Amino acid sequence: MNVKIISFAAGVCLLSACISTPDEPDITNAVWLDQGWSDDQRQWFHHESQGTATLPVPYEWFVEIEQPINIEHWYKGAEKNKFSSTEYLQKFGYIPSVKTTSNPDALAVGFVRTAGMTDAVNGGTYNAIGMTCAGCHTGHLTYKGTSIRVDGGPAVTEITTMIGALGISLVETDVDLIRRERFKNAVIKRMRDENPTTPVSDLETRFENTYKAIIKGLAEQAIIVARTKKASVDEGFTRLDALNRIGNTVFGAYNPVNIVATTAPVNYPHIWTTSWFDWVQYDGSIMQPMIRNAGESMGVAAALNLKPGADQFASSVKVKNLFAMESLLAGTHPQKAKAFNGLKAPKWPEKILGKIDQSKASKGKVLYEKHCQSCHLPTTNSQEFWSDKYWKKITPNGENYLALNIIPTSVIGTDTAQSEILVNRTVDISGMDMSGTVCGEPNGKPIQVTSSKNTPFAFALGLAVEQVVKHYYIQEKIDPKEQALMNGGRPNCLQAPKAYKARPLNGIWATGPFLHNGSVANLYEMLLPAGQRAATLYLGFQEFDPKKVGFISTPSDGLENTKGLSKVIVSGPEARKGNFNSGHEFSDNKGGQGVIGPLLKDDERWALVEFLKTL
Ligand code: HEC
Ligand code: HEC
Repeated sequence: MNVKIISFAAGVCLLSACISTPDEPDITNAVWLDQGWSDDQRQWFHHESQGTATLPVPYEWFVEIEQPINIEHWYKGAEKNKFSSTEYLQKFGYIPSVKTTSNPDALAVGFVRTAGMTDAVNGGTYNAIGMTCAGCHTGHLTYKGTSIRVDGGPAVTEITTMIGALGISLVETDVDLIRRERFKNAVIKRMRDENPTTPVSDLETRFENTYKAIIKGLAEQAIIVARTKKASVDEGFTRLDALNRIGNTVFGAYNPVNIVATTAPVNYPHIWTTSWFDWVQYDGSIMQPMIRNAGESMGVAAALNLKPGADQFASSVKVKNLFAMESLLAGTHPQKAKAFNGLKAPKWPEKILGKIDQSKASKGKVLYEKHCQSCHLPTTNSQEFWSDKYWKKITPNGENYLALNIIPTSVIGTDTAQSEILVNRTVDISGMDMSGTVCGEPNGKPIQVTSSKNTPFAFALGLAVEQVVKHYYIQEKIDPKEQALMNGGRPNCLQAPKAYKARPLNGIWATGPFLHNGSVANLYEMLLPAGQRAATLYLGFQEFDPKKVGFISTPSDGLENTKGLSKVIVSGPEARKGNFNSGHEFSDNKGGQGVIGPLLKDDERWALVEFLKTL
C-alpha cells in the first residue's frame, strides 16, 4: 500500500451529512452514440489501467467498503450498500458499466484495477484502484428518460466529493466494530482467493497495517485541505483544477510546501480530435501527447520516485497503455481521407433530441463563416479545413498537425485563472538533482531546467515527466524508433502563453457547460453579451436542454431548491476569480475587454445554435 498523499482526497467534512448528491431523472433507456469505436474498444478504454492508484485504498477495499451511513444504510441492509455499487457512484455522476473479465466487479466507467503496485507499508505488492481517462472524459446527458453517453465527452462527475465520501466511510468503519469486522472479513476473503497459500494471520496483519496507514494519510490530508481551503475555488460537478492538482500530487509528495490551493477549476475538456492539435490543454501549453498523458497519470497518483539515486524517476505509469489509449483516440492521419477516424465527434441524435431545422442551420452557417471561423477554423466537414493552410509540420519530416489559434486572454477576456498557473507557479524541488533541457516556445530553443527552490512549475513538470517516460523506455528496452512513435512524433515543447486555444467546434453540442471554466450554461448564452448570461449556475444535473443546447442549469430552470447540485456564482460581486463568465462576447460595446464580435440579433443567435448542432 502506498501512502503517498493524494491531493484529491477531500476530507472536507467529517460527517456524512455533508455529502449531498442530486436526484436524477428516472432512466428507461441508455445509448452510446456511434463515434467509431466498437464495443470492445470502448470497454477496453473504460477499464484499462494507466498504472495509477487514484483512490487511497487497495482495490479490494474499494469494492467491499460500505457507503457512509445514511438512512438507506439502515433499511436496505449492509450488503446492498457497497460504496462501489453503480447506484451509489451514479450519485457522483459516474456512468454504469458492464461486468467483463477486465471489469470483474462491474465498476462504473473509468474505475480500474491496477495490479502489482509496490506496497510501501507491508512490502510486496497490492492491487490498487485507479482512475483511467474515461473516468474524466466520458460525457453523459439525459433527455426524457434516455441516458445518452458520449465517449471523450466531459464527465459530469464530482470526484473530490466522491473521494471525500470514501474517506468518511473509512473513518466510520474504523470506529464501528461490527461494521469493521464485516468489512475486514470481506476483504480478507478476497485476499485469500488471490493468495490461497498465505496464512490468514499474515493477511490480517497486512489489513491492520494498511488501515493504520490510511487513517494517518487521511488525517494528514485533512490538515492540508484545511490549510488551502480558504484560497481554493470549489470545483464541484463537471470541473477540476487538474493543472494545480497535478503539481500538488507530483511535487507535493516530494515536498509538502509545494501544495497550493486549487484556484482554477476547469470543465473536463472533450478529447476527440485533440490528438491532431499542435498544442493541447486549455492554455495551449503542451505539445507532446506522451508528456501530456504521462503527466496526467502522475497527477492521478501513479507511484513515483523523484528522490535522487539509482531508481530516480521509476514509476508505475504504464507507458505502453498510454500510447495505446492515445492511438485509439487518434486513429490514423486524417488529412488524406479528409475525416477523423479515431474517436469521432458525436452526431446530434435527432431521434432522441429532435430534428435539426436545416433552413435555420444554413443561415447559421453563413454567420459562422462571418463571425467564428477566423478563430475556430472552417468546420471539419468542409473541404477547406483539410487544405494545408490550416495544418503545419512541427518537425521537418514529421506529420502535419492542426494549427490552432491561441488567443491572448487580453483579447478573449475570459477568466484568466487557468492561463496564469504556468506563468506564475514555481515549485521547490531543491535536492532533486534534476537537470536537463526542454524545448521552449515560441522559437523551439532549449530551456535549461535545474532543481531549485523556485523552479518554474511548467518546466519542472515537463522535464520530470520526460525523465519518467525515459526511465520506462530504458527499463523496457524500447528502441529509439519506437520511442519516437510512442512520443507521437513530436518534441517535448512547452509554453505558457497566457491565452486560450480556440478549437474546432465539432461535437460542441455535447460538451456543456461552456468555456474552459464551465461558466456558461449553454450555446445560446455563449452568444449573449456576458452581462445577460446567467449569473449563477447549478451544475451536476444531467438533463439536457435541446433548445439552448446545454445542461439544465440556470436559475430560470428552477433548480434553486434541488439539493446536491454545485452552485457556482459566475458574475457579480460575489463571484470569485476562477469562476468568471466574462469575455468571448458579441456585443455593441466595440473595443471592450473580451468583445470579439458585433451584437447578434436574437434570430441570428438561434440560427447559430441550430448550425452548431450539425457539427
Ligand atoms: C482525473 C481526471 C482526468 C483523467 C483521469 C484524465 N484527464 Fe485528461 N484532462 C482532465 C482535465 C481537467 C483536463 C484539462 C486541463 C487543463 O487544460 O487545464 C484534461 C486535459 C486533457 C487533454 C487536453 C484537451 C485539450 O482540450 O487540449 C487531453 C488530450 C486529455 N486530457 C486526454 C486524457 C487521456 C488520454 C487520459 C488518460 C490517459 C486522461 N486525459 C485522463 C482530466 C482528466
Ligand atoms: C477571437 C477569436 C474567437 C472568435 C471570433 C470566436 N471564438 Fe469561440 N472561442 C475562442 C476561444 C479562445 C475560446 C476558448 C475560451 C475559453 O475557454 O476561455 C472559445 C470558446 C468557444 C466555445 C466554448 C468551447 C468549450 O469547449 O467550452 C464556444 C461554444 C465557442 N467559442 C463558439 C463560438 C462561436 C459560435 C463563435 C462565432 C459566433 C465564436 N466562438 C467566435 C475564440 C473565438
